[in-house]
Amino acid sequence: MHKNVLITGGAGFIGSHVVRRFIKSGNYQIVNLDKLTYAGNLENLRDIENDPNYEFIKGDICDFDFINELFKKHDFHGVIHLAAESHVDRSITNPMEFIQTNVVGTVSLLNAVKEAWKGKENRRFYHVSTDEVYGSLGEEGLFKEITPYDPKSPYSASKASSDHFVRAYGNTYDLPYVISNCSNNYGPNHFPEKLIPLMIHNIRNKKPLPVYGKGENVRDWLYVEDHARAIELIFEKGKNGETYNIGGFNEWKNIDLVHLLCDIMDRKLGNEQGSSRELITFVKDRAGHDLRYAIDASKLNEELGWEPSLQFKEGLEKTVDWFFNNEQWLNDVTSGDYMKYYDEHYTNR
Ligand code: NAD
Ligand code: TYD
Repeated sequence: MHKNVLITGGAGFIGSHVVRRFIKSGNYQIVNLDKLTYAGNLENLRDIENDPNYEFIKGDICDFDFINELFKKHDFHGVIHLAAESHVDRSITNPMEFIQTNVVGTVSLLNAVKEAWKGKENRRFYHVSTDEVYGSLGEEGLFKEITPYDPKSPYSASKASSDHFVRAYGNTYDLPYVISNCSNNYGPNHFPEKLIPLMIHNIRNKKPLPVYGKGENVRDWLYVEDHARAIELIFEKGKNGETYNIGGFNEWKNIDLVHLLCDIMDRKLGNEQGSSRELITFVKDRAGHDLRYAIDASKLNEELGWEPSLQFKEGLEKTVDWFFNNEQWLNDVTSGDYMKYYDEHYTNR
């Protein structure tokens, strides 16, 4: 029998890979609930949109009456919650939107779930979160599941708050939940305001490559399909009330990553090697820029046997190829309101 699962934010970057993975497994009936903000795009799911086990519903997780009705209409066995505002720079210019979606929206879902699952067994609320809740590392060390929360941006503070609410509902109302905190993802469908797709877009169009500060900040990168595979595994085999860190053991300084991307793209575009590096422009640093993120994913490896499947260079090659083969997608998402935001954002720097 197919299990009924609600996925929120399934039209976004990571959510679209999670929806596809669950549909392809053949074990689930999926409802994808998404507000279709600037970051949500149904093009991300064209290949599975006619699957009989898939339904899309446009709606806002903050609309409490609507969410309650949804849980009356459907008997969901599980919720995988990804809907969020996800870009740190936007959270600096507009923190209220992050509190509304990431905190109020999550609590609105938790309330509906708490009522709908009273007296029912074998249910699970899966909250998808970020390693940014742990704050910023110095030169040494890794984030573990027991690392104290120390969020430093409005985005990470809103995600930390939503994590706390999930645990509080578990503790207070016995809500069955799992949480995972993942490092930076990259891959197909990545919205081109984040570092890797923005650089791919700009290298392709010979536009300046804005590197914040000196480019010395470090991120730990994971291919998005590896994250989706971890989510499926944790949803099916993780323990209630547990947290799992997910990461690629793959730390890169921003400037080294941009250099690597320039070199890969110069080769693929037939440019003279080194020519794209000349586009690099050091710009004003992000306010409160976290220095380093790095995840210790050994719990997930030891308890559930997960490990990343792709080497970074292989993942980057695949990602660049995807963007080359999906120019229409890139043109669509970089037109309209997004460009307005981009121009305002970068002319202020
Ligand atoms: P994204 O911005 O690409 O997608 C977010 C999706 O949520 C969009 O489809 C958007 O339309 C939808 N959405 C936003 N507000 C909504 C609302 N009020 N109601 C319903 N839908 C709404 O984000 P992403 O990068 O795919 O991230 C997904 C989740 O994973 C987020 O919770 C994020 O915090 C978390 N995460 C992301 C990363 C990363 O590297 N991108 C890493 C770790 C964790
Ligand atoms: P980003 O992709 O926004 O993810 P996050 O801030 O959640 O880690 O940024 C990744 C890193 O790249 C971060 O250190 C900020 C930096 N960055 C730039 O240097 N230039 C850019 O244009 C962007 C978007 C990010």
